[in-house]
Amino acid sequence: MSKNIPIAVVGSGYVGLVAAVCFAEIGHDVICVDNDERKVAALQGGDTLIHENYLPELLDRYRNSRVKFTTDLAHATREAQAIFIAVGTPQSETGDADLSYVEAVACEIARSIDSYKVIVEKSTVPVYTNEWIRRAIERNGVARNLFDVVSNPEFLREGTAVADFLHPDRIVVGADSERAAKVLGDIYAPLTTGEYYTQADLIPGVCSTDAPPALLNTSTKSAEIIKHASNAFLALKISFINAVSNLCEATDANVEQVARGIGLDSRIGPKFLRPGVGYGGSCFPKDVAAFRSVADQLGIDFNLLSEVEKINVQQKKRFLSKVRSALWTLRGKRLAVLGLAFKGETDDIRESPAIELVKMFIGEGCSISAYDPAAMKRTEEIMPASRHLRYTENAYSAAEDADALLILTDWAEFATLDLPKLQRVLRYPIVIDGRNLYDPTVMAESGFTYLSIGRPAAYPMRELASASANAHA
Ligand code: UGA
Repeated sequence: MSKNIPIAVVGSGYVGLVAAVCFAEIGHDVICVDNDERKVAALQGGDTLIHENYLPELLDRYRNSRVKFTTDLAHATREAQAIFIAVGTPQSETGDADLSYVEAVACEIARSIDSYKVIVEKSTVPVYTNEWIRRAIERNGVARNLFDVVSNPEFLREGTAVADFLHPDRIVVGADSERAAKVLGDIYAPLTTGEYYTQADLIPGVCSTDAPPALLNTSTKSAEIIKHASNAFLALKISFINAVSNLCEATDANVEQVARGIGLDSRIGPKFLRPGVGYGGSCFPKDVAAFRSVADQLGIDFNLLSEVEKINVQQKKRFLSKVRSALWTLRGKRLAVLGLAFKGETDDIRESPAIELVKMFIGEGCSISAYDPAAMKRTEEIMPASRHLRYTENAYSAAEDADALLILTDWAEFATLDLPKLQRVLRYPIVIDGRNLYDPTVMAESGFTYLSIGRPAAYPMRELASASANAHA
């Protein structure tokens, strides 16, 4: 039977909140700390604050019992054996991660340490942060034998964060002391021994008692680099396939076939080879910039990362040109936009390519009617409805009388639209799909002009038939 380790999690954002309820799910007592009183009150009252699968269920199970929410970091530090720092590390103007929140938390923790504690960085941070946290704690008068600092990066994706946490590909523990590594080993034991996967009401996922996740012990610096390098590599994979998709467009090849063909090579793998309108979100753009900045500071030429970013910016511009190529001119056009979130299954709009594109289209003089199943409220806060921008109740009212329909986010529901109904409501049956959710042949058969990413454009069968009849006349 695994041990119950008292844990504090500082920060109740995507990573902190998910980690807190998941640690409770695997049997630990957790205090989740946030300095925002309103957030703490909302969480105590059962509001999850973010749209995330399984979070409401786990919050219901453990709220105010195995997971307590508070603003009192000193109390949480005294109670806990391991304190996970999961506060934001936003991008500063120079591209580096702004670590001032991490520093402030480390100093505050230092003031309350009265017995051995393991301080764990869970926020995404650059290499050497671990050492800075250690120095900050020592400077605040804590004896070196009273604490260790460990790096335990998180690899969860928004939308599937809970399942990712409980069924990880790997758990990375970067610790320079055996004592600290052992505490982390005990915390994750319910997962690594497979014990959790025998539970009747477990959150389903890919791991099992026969195939539990591996725990990789590394140095603290290696763990810090693993996190940045993982996100940078995934972003690179996406930019790579986006560049290949442009090549496919120029040659009338099909990027889906190419992605499948290269992805079947087990050294490459099929995942993260979906072309689109570019990557977004709170992680990839920020982490690629931060990793590049770390390399710069160390005098290392890592221009590859600048190219990754450049392709990502270009991809949005190319999409705009694609829409222009379908509509001839853009000024005064009415565009229906499906999707505002940076990807499907989330309400997060941070660095969303969809939002950037909406701004670009408005800048070109278009008027937009937009629909997103979860992200409209957040979008409205930063882009209120106006003469040029209208939010609608569903995909069909967005499409009403529009000159074209644009798909910008890969929500599952956008892949199963009622095509005859869509035909009826659009002014012109033109769909420009930035996420390749439809089969071009099906769209052509359903009477649409259909443009997507890296695949030949498809035209309504009728149009083709009359074109070929004219050619034969
Ligand atoms: C990403 C990583 O996948 C997680 O492993 C990591 O823990 C997280 O960042 C983080 O550092 O916190 P997330 O930002 O939630 O997770 O989203 P992803 O599913 O990775 O998607 C990122 C962006 O890439 C989205 O805009 C998505 O639409 C795009 N994408 C993804 C593609 O364009 N093509 C793909 O094949 C995959």
